[in-house]
Amino acid sequence: MKMIMAIIQTHKLDDVRQALNEVGVMGMTVTEAKGFGRTKGHTEIYRGAEYQINYIPKFKIEVVVEDSISDKVIETISETANTGKIGDGKIFVWDIETAIRIRTGEQNEQAL
Ligand SMILES: Nc1ncnc2c1ncn2[C@@H]1O[C@H](COP(=O)(O)OP(=O)(O)OP(=O)(O)O)[C@@H](O)[C@H]1O
Ligand SMILES: [Mg+2]
Repeated sequence: MKMIMAIIQTHKLDDVRQALNEVGVMGMTVTEAKGFGRTKGHTEIYRGAEYQINYIPKFKIEVVVEDSISDKVIETISETANTGKIGDGKIFVWDIETAIRIRTGEQNEQAL
């Protein structure tokens, strides 16, 4: 299983959710996030140093999926969340060791 975490523009959430639904993603966590990337949000020079004075609101989405669909999920998020402008976000991926559905005790792929 893979954890796919993506930071996306807020106005892209509905499109991404819809597209993920179509590739078989069963569940997703969405968190209101704030952050900045290399291009920064809004910066200000104070006494010769650059300070971060603004964090741009984003949505963080987290989906855990079977290995077999992870490439498709990554490609779907990349395409759906892309506007071609700065601030479109990032995708981070890592391996998941264990998943458990609390209600039933099912584990791993059966728990997703
Ligand atoms: N290295 C990082 N680690 C963790 N979160 C990051 C990182 N880079 C970006 N983010 C998150 O992703 C959001 C969007 O980043 P953003 O797309 O602006 O990255 P960028 O490197 O500035 O690229 P771009 O030039 O396309 O704007 C940030 O607001 C932040 O929440
Ligand atoms: Mg940026």
